[in-house]
This record gives sequence, structure tokens and C-alpha cells, in this order.
Amino acid sequence: MSFIHKLGLHKALGALSPAVRPLLNAASERRLANAVNIADLRTCAKARMHPMCFGYLDSGSDDEVTLRRNHDAYAEFELHYHVLSGLSPETLDLRSRVFGRDVALPFFACPTAGNRMFHDEGEAAAAAAAAHHGTLYGLSSLATTSIGGIAEQLPAGHPKVFQLYVWKDRELLRDVLAQAREGGFDALALTVDFTWYGNRERDIRNGFTIPPKYTPKQVLGALSAPAWTWDLISNEPYKYALLREDVPAESLASFVNEQINPAFDWADAEWLCQEWDGPVAIKGVVRPDDARRALDAGFSTLWVSNHGGRQLEGSPATVSVLPAIRAAVGPDVEIILDGGVQRGTDILKGLALGADAVGVGKPYLYGLGAGGTAGVVRALDILKIELERAMGLLGVRTVADLKARGDDLVRHRGSSARDAQGARYASSGIV
Ligand code: FNR
Repeated sequence: MSFIHKLGLHKALGALSPAVRPLLNAASERRLANAVNIADLRTCAKARMHPMCFGYLDSGSDDEVTLRRNHDAYAEFELHYHVLSGLSPETLDLRSRVFGRDVALPFFACPTAGNRMFHDEGEAAAAAAAAHHGTLYGLSSLATTSIGGIAEQLPAGHPKVFQLYVWKDRELLRDVLAQAREGGFDALALTVDFTWYGNRERDIRNGFTIPPKYTPKQVLGALSAPAWTWDLISNEPYKYALLREDVPAESLASFVNEQINPAFDWADAEWLCQEWDGPVAIKGVVRPDDARRALDAGFSTLWVSNHGGRQLEGSPATVSVLPAIRAAVGPDVEIILDGGVQRGTDILKGLALGADAVGVGKPYLYGLGAGGTAGVVRALDILKIELERAMGLLGVRTVADLKARGDDLVRHRGSSARDAQGARYASSGIV
């Protein structure tokens, strides 16, 4: 499609957008209106997006075992609810604190790269949804929307975290940090599970490039997604907005492989923590010893994550390692959890098992791909309603209460089964 941009034809097409877009988006809006849960939003996103962009959003590394386990691991925990707690919906309180700031919800949209390839509203849609729900917003170093574009959606002072990758080029690193500071980002998250680019085989198979190449497969893909394709050809081409050098959003993998600094180590991390005046999270820890070391290095927040199963295949499911990390650092260190969340009950389990806030990546990106801002708002709405219902049925009124009583309310299936067996023996007089 790039000749359209080179010839400037996208401007003429853009002038037709007010008439054409509603027609092309009618089907996806109908589908979005009927979506009941996050799995439905995934189906909607798949229907509206170019297949190779959907593949990039949806995939994990290698055989996608970690991707699946991240999600399946929540089912290993059971909810031992109290009855007759007397909680009506208006008494519930979902407020929480993260990075020292008050937020209306204990979950939020994680930083994710290249949002304009999913829907033209891109990162601005997720920022608008965060403003709508009064929750934290996370912006990726590889955003396709400028910090100014984000500021238009979020009131000044809205809680937000800037995600940093460690570029080889220190100037580039300093430049990105300066932009984040100027843009009012007071919290920083250093992603440490991305020193090499994960092996995303769906992308290789799909020939993933932005913009699509003129291969028969990509042209067919573009024709199968007319609303997505219209947005692509009637708008300015997108690029990584925070990288001042002109990097086309063409080959993410090769850019990252050239620019990421795999030699970045704990000493560099200490330097970074000193460089930033404000809370700094380490994003991507899965081990208690690394968690303790990160605190020694100067990080204030631990972000338990394996990049949504997109990096090291075979990494443990994040919710499975969370209790050990919480036990290793004690109750006062802030912990964020992400990975595999698809339901309000997953968020509830994450909070009960030791997280102060829970991030979601794919769930809100499905909403974005399905229908821009309306889709992201919908994704967060679905999760909020599910979380409220789960809290009401579990018998907890507030997030603080859930965290305080988590050990008793949320138990691993194995331990529930052992308890039940113990009780059976006890009642039979065998013990
Ligand atoms: C990501 N993630 C990510 N993380 C990060 O630190 N910087 C980034 O630029 C990106 N980009 C990105 C793109 C896409 C398409 C996805 C799906 C994920 C990881 C993200 O922040 C988060 O850790 C995971 O997405 C959480 O897992 P779930 O919710 O997707 O299962």
C-alpha cells in the first residue's frame, strides 16, 4: 500500500472517510455490540483486522505453551467464598493505589507496541479508555502515537507509566526518557524480558510487515479486512512516534534486534533507577531471588510478567510464581501482575494472591482491534463487571479486604483437595 502514501493519495481518500468509514465499520460495530466477554472481543478483532496484524497481537513464542499456561494457571486456583456477606453492588469499592497514585480500578491496560496497526485510533484509544475508567495507563517505548497525542486523551496528572526498552544508543534512551518526563509520566517501567526478540513463528509464517507487502497473500488479507484496510490507506502512515530518528514501522523484529542492548545488566539497571526521579518498576521478573535483587538495585515496584508468553517459551505462568515472590519481599513492596488474564475472576485471584494491581495486554488489544476506543472501553467494562460480580459472590467489599483475606479465600486446587481429604479422614476417625 505504500505507493498510496508516496503519491499522497491517502489525503484524497481521507476526505472521503466521513462517508466511507461508517459503511465499512457497520458490521464490526454490530459484532462489538453483541460481544459478551473477552473471548468474543477476540473473535471480533480477528474479523476486523488484517490476518497478519491479528497474528502479531494474538501470538506467543515457539509452541505457545507459556501463552496458554499463563491463562490456564488461573483455573488452578479456587474461590472459597463466604455466604450471606450482605454485599449489594453499590457497596463495592474497586479503588486501589499504584505507583503511589489513586486509581478507580485495580487493573489497567499494559504498555503494548504499535497500537495503530490494530486500529487507526491506536494508543489514543487505550488512553481515552483509561481516562474513562479512571485507571492507570501504560505507554510503550514502541508506541505509534506521540506523547502529545496521549496527553490529548488523558487529563494532566492522570496516573500513567512509561515503559522503557534499553536501546544500545544511550542518546536515544535519554531522549525517550526526556520525552516521557516532559509528557508528565511520573512512573517508569523497565522491561527486562526482552533483551532478545522472542521467536514468534506465526509472524514469520504470515510474512508480517507493516505496511503489508504486495504479495497475493497480503493483498487477499487486506481485501478480507476492508474497514482495517481503509484506515490504513486513508490516514498518515504510522511510525514509532517516540523514536526521533525516522524508523518506519516496517520490520519490528529487525529494528529491535539492531537496537536492543542484550548486554544491559544489574549495574546499568542501578544507573537507570538513579537517573529517574520517581517510581521505577522492573517488568518481567518471575523469580523471588531476582525480585529481591531488583529491590537492592533501586526498583520500587516489581512487575511479575513474562511478556504475555511472547518471549521465553517455557517461562512459568505468572500467577503461579506470584505467591512465592510476594512471600520473598513481604507485604509492603508494590507488585504488579500481568499475563493470561481473560476474566474478572482472574484479576480477583491475582489481587488475592499478592498483586497490588493487575495488567491486561491482549484483552484490551482485542477490544481495540474490534472497534477502537469503544472496543477498549468495552473490554475494561467487561472485566470491571466480572470483577464486581466475583467480589460480591466471594464476599469481599473492597480491594484492600480482598488483599488482606486473600490467602483464605483463594486456594490452590491441590491444597483444597488435600484439605478435603484431611477432613474426610478426620470425620471417619482414621486420623
Ligand atoms: C506486548 N507487551 C509489551 N510489553 C512491553 O513492555 N513493551 C511493549 O512494547 C509490549 N508490546 C506488546 C505488544 C503486544 C501485541 C502484546 C500482546 C504484548 C507485553 C504486555 O505489556 C504485557 O506484559 C502482556 O501483554 C500481558 O499478557 P496478556 O494480558 O497479553 O496475556
